[in-house]
Amino acid sequence: MDAMSANTQNTLRPLESLRSQRWLARDDMRSFAHRQRLQQMGLRRDEFLNRPVIAIINTWSDLSPCHAHLRERAEDVRRGILLAGGFPVELPALSLGEVMVKPTTMLYRNFLAMEVEELLRSHPVDGVVLLAGCDKTTPGTLMGAISMDIPTIFCPAGPMLNDRYKGQTVGAGTHTKKFWDEYVAGNINQPEWIRLEAKMTRSPGTCNTMGTASTMTSIVEAMGLTLPGASSIPAMDANHVRMASTCGARIVDMVWEDLKPSAFLTDDSFANAVAAYMALGGSTNAAIHLIAMAGRAGIKLSLDEMDAMARRIPVIANLFPSGDKLMEDFFFAGGMPALLQEIKPHLKLDAMTITGKSLGENIAAAVNDDATVIRHVANPVAPGAALAVLRGNLCPDGAIIKPSAASPKFFKHEGRALVFDSNAEMLAQIHLPDLDVDENTVIILRNGGPQGAPGMPEWGNLPIPKKLLQRGIRDMVRLSDARMSGTHFGSCVVHISPEAAIGGPLALVQTGDIIELDVDARSLNMLVPDDELSRRRSAWKPAAQIFQRGYTKLYIQHVSQANDGCDFDFLSGTAKTPEPSIY
Ligand code: FES
Repeated sequence: MDAMSANTQNTLRPLESLRSQRWLARDDMRSFAHRQRLQQMGLRRDEFLNRPVIAIINTWSDLSPCHAHLRERAEDVRRGILLAGGFPVELPALSLGEVMVKPTTMLYRNFLAMEVEELLRSHPVDGVVLLAGCDKTTPGTLMGAISMDIPTIFCPAGPMLNDRYKGQTVGAGTHTKKFWDEYVAGNINQPEWIRLEAKMTRSPGTCNTMGTASTMTSIVEAMGLTLPGASSIPAMDANHVRMASTCGARIVDMVWEDLKPSAFLTDDSFANAVAAYMALGGSTNAAIHLIAMAGRAGIKLSLDEMDAMARRIPVIANLFPSGDKLMEDFFFAGGMPALLQEIKPHLKLDAMTITGKSLGENIAAAVNDDATVIRHVANPVAPGAALAVLRGNLCPDGAIIKPSAASPKFFKHEGRALVFDSNAEMLAQIHLPDLDVDENTVIILRNGGPQGAPGMPEWGNLPIPKKLLQRGIRDMVRLSDARMSGTHFGSCVVHISPEAAIGGPLALVQTGDIIELDVDARSLNMLVPDDELSRRRSAWKPAAQIFQRGYTKLYIQHVSQANDGCDFDFLSGTAKTPEPSIY
């Protein structure tokens, strides 16, 4: 980090070519009004004239605990911008606190992407620092910035601090679910349960397990969109403050260099992201977000490419839920640069990054300081890969399981289906004492997909029935067209595509059908004769649409399926939107 940004104004690009100059530099009434309004806020002319204007997109809010420190970090970024000769402007954006936003932040990822793109387009800005990190905010802000295609740095919010409970390391999400199962089983009493409420989430910052937040910020670093090492720095570490200030300094140089995402984001950048994803044992959600981000850069990335990478690169980051450490340990071990060093033979080291240097140059000096946290490839964390892409008559367009966070005994499994048509129905029945279920049953939830839910919530880690929890059962095979939290452990097949709500085969399965899962063969099937499936298909009817107006209607009409990234059809691709007229 120390080597970043000389803060010298590079003269590669003439001042007149900056976007902001159209707003601020002309000798006409419109430009006069723009300058006048900046002076209205007490700014001197020389504070904003003849220098790059840098947007700080801030996803802080009072209901985003993971981003609670981003107001202060915006000031640190601002300091870096000023020292480097830029003019900072802070633009707030949708905060999308993962736990608070209902029905699911995934419904609003594309909303945030649109907001970021249009905030940047409609204002006089030449470059942007994105302050984000809680699950959907990383892909959301970056999808918008990639589409807008101005110089961009992603400044990750950073993980929260480690916590301990009764001598055990405990992390956000993973242990919440584990303790909940013990509470339902009657192994934790109520006073202890209330005590746990103040545990696991020890400070501001993103989840400290390898959930979706850490997965996304880490793989975005592998793509070259952050400063080297940035994604692993804990939110409350002084290094994080310095990293934020360095982002401010570096973005000014990037504007003079005209270093836009389109100048360096290539197939190789996304290949590096996928390689890192597998070594991290990252969240299943990343498969959706990576495809969507690639689509914004005009790159076709498929589930099959991810599966192929998962077969080559084992999970080496010993972090929950695949392992038993947390992000602070990962930082002390050397963080992402050290992990990337370990998988160097699988990386495209010539891929360029926001530093103006290649990924290979960025990680050249990295050292793995703790091989119990960042394992060597020859000594992986789990027997299973980070991801397996399944196909079969239940999921012709693909489905995903995370073998590294599942029980190996279920990698080959045959069981009787127990089907729920909605999350509400499942929640109402799953703990009934007379529920017809045993440990071999395959529990299925449908209508949890992009259109069906809508928004594809994290329902996919379906609860284990109480009567089985009381017998000590902690994992079962569960299927859905929903997503699951990256922090969770379980033999859950998610993202079944096409989803049930649009008539995917998941809509046809019935309680009592035999389901066959074979992870090694990458297959998932219902053992139902074809003529019976045809009969069920003829009888199937889509549910009446209850969302008749507003954003949710727009979402349902335009969202793609999970295997295509769940982006809107009118946002994907690289077609250029004209610059706005300032008159
Ligand atoms: Fe924000 Fe996990 S809830 S990162």
